[in-house]
Amino acid sequence: MTETKPLVLVVDDDESMRLLLQRQMENDGYRAVTAENGFSAIEKAIGEPPDVVLLDALMPEMDGFEVAERLKSSERTATAQIIMVTVLEDHQSKIRALKAGVQEFLSKPVDRSELSLRVHNVLMLKRYSNFLADQNRLLEQKVEERSRQVLRSYRETIATLTRAASYKDEATGAHVHRISYYTEDIAQAIGMNAGFCEAIHYASPMHDIGKIAIPDAILQKRGPLDEHEWEIMKSHSALGAQLLGTGDSPYLRMGAEIALHHHERWDGGGYPGRLKGELIPISARIMNICDQYDALRSERPYKKALSHQAAVEIITVGDGRTLPIHFDPDVLDAFKRCAERFREIFETIADCQ
Ligand SMILES: [Fe+2]
Repeated sequence: MTETKPLVLVVDDDESMRLLLQRQMENDGYRAVTAENGFSAIEKAIGEPPDVVLLDALMPEMDGFEVAERLKSSERTATAQIIMVTVLEDHQSKIRALKAGVQEFLSKPVDRSELSLRVHNVLMLKRYSNFLADQNRLLEQKVEERSRQVLRSYRETIATLTRAASYKDEATGAHVHRISYYTEDIAQAIGMNAGFCEAIHYASPMHDIGKIAIPDAILQKRGPLDEHEWEIMKSHSALGAQLLGTGDSPYLRMGAEIALHHHERWDGGGYPGRLKGELIPISARIMNICDQYDALRSERPYKKALSHQAAVEIITVGDGRTLPIHFDPDVLDAFKRCAERFREIFETIADCQ
């Protein structure tokens, strides 16, 4: 592949100076275009961004300082290396030029070999900075790709863990799958940010993971649990949190929070902490209502499945056992708005899967 020759833009209101600089740049092996004033310089630079600008300081209408500022403030021309060619020698003009984005100075009359050297130097500088920018971009892409891979691995691990837990439990794989969608919908409906909504989608299926550690005799008992058995059953919250709490992915952190608190109730009547109101993490408040809906709609050895309407009625009106005061009012409100979606999710992700 042939490399395009660097482009030099010569800006000077003095025609003989323009031609002199243009010729020398071409002799040095560069492409050179000229502009006789600031406006034309900006226009040409935008048309084809130059690598180097040889810029006269004193020009009518728009002087070299303003041209430099404009070139540096436009994304398209910001990387042009600017050499100011000037008769001005005073300190203040140099500071002003540097502030405007000028890299180098050349005094008039121009010394040919100094000009060649300075152009060569700024081009080298530009090449290095381009190289660094490319490397940074590449690195950022690699980091992004790596992060995506890590997230994928987290999700796979979660899916495996959740599947493993569902083998022991009465709840099916479809139940945990549906939970992902219910919780994400409620999170969106109450205005949680995109990161939270994504995290709850992956974290919520792990809510009952602690049941792995509950003896089968209790977990699969057909009759009602006695007091001692019930205490053991309730420990699945803390056990789940313990299991997930060792991880530091956002999914596992939220998963641990949900596992610990998904049986808390807004009125303080839940377990394990008997937490009340906003002391219960929002993720767990969302989880609780979704879990209730899905449990009401599902068949168990000791109960029949309820219709969508009946489940919604129990949650929103109450049946003596489940009451609206058990739920965060905002979450309950969102549930009412999302109820049709819940029906769709339940019917789409059926238990036979
Ligand atoms: Fe649970």
